Amino acid sequence: MNVEFVDEIALDIATKSHIADLMKVCFPEEDFHGRHYFKQLPHYRLLLKNKNQLIGQLGLDYRVMTLNGEPINVLGVIDFAIHPQFRNQGRAAQMLNELEQLAHKFRTNIDFLFLVADQHDFYRKFGFELTAQHVRWLVTEEHINYGMKEGFFDHCLMYKQIGSKPWVENGNLDLMGYWY
Ligand SMILES: CC(C)(COP(=O)(O)OP(=O)(O)OC[C@H]1O[C@@H](n2cnc3c(N)ncnc32)[C@H](O)[C@@H]1OP(=O)(O)O)[C@@H](O)C(=O)NCCC(=O)NCCS
Repeated sequence: MNVEFVDEIALDIATKSHIADLMKVCFPEEDFHGRHYFKQLPHYRLLLKNKNQLIGQLGLDYRVMTLNGEPINVLGVIDFAIHPQFRNQGRAAQMLNELEQLAHKFRTNIDFLFLVADQHDFYRKFGFELTAQHVRWLVTEEHINYGMKEGFFDHCLMYKQIGSKPWVENGNLDLMGYWY
C-alpha cells in the first residue's frame, strides 16, 4: 500500500467519489451529503491506496493563523480516516509517518501541524499535544457563512511543533477562517 500526496485541484471525478464513499463509512455520525469534503475543500490530501482501492485519507489545510497576534504557518489535518476493514493494522500510523516526512521536507514553510480531535491518546503517540486556547473562527454550515464566533477550548485542539517558533499556551488563537 502506498500513500500519495495530491493537490485538491487535480482530483478526478472517480477519486472524489471514492473519498466521499470513505467519508460516509468512516464518519457515520456526520452527514457529508455525498460530498468528498465536509465544510470546505482542503488544499492537499494524503491518499492511502491498495492498488486502486482507497483505504485511507487525510485532508490538509494550509493557512496562516495568529497566536497572540503573531502569524503562524499552520498545516491542518482534516477528516483523517482509515476504512473499517483495514483498521488496527498500522495504516493510520503509516499515514501520520508520511505526514511527518512531508512536514519535515517543507519545515521552513510550516510552523505547526494542527488538528481538532477527541482521540488525544492516539495523536499523542505521534507527537501531538493538547492545548488550551481562546479561539476565534468563522462559523460555516452547509455552505452558509454565519460570521465570527469566539470561545475557550481545552479538550479538542492539538498541535505539533515543526519549525522553531514556540507554541503559546492559553493564548488567543485566531483560526483566520473556518473551524475544521
Ligand atoms: C482513528 C483511526 C484513523 C485509526 O486508524 P488505524 O489504522 O486503526 O490505526 P493504527 O492501526 O495505525 O493504530 C496506530 C496506534 O494508535 C492506536 N489507536 C488506534 N485507534 C485509536 C483510538 N481511537 N484511540 C487511541 N488509540 C488508537 C493503535 O492501538 C496503535 O497503537 P500502537 O502503535 O501502540 O499499537 C481509525 O480508527 C478511523 O478511521 N476512525 C474513524 C474516523 C476517525 O475517528 N478519525 C479521526 C478523526 S480526528
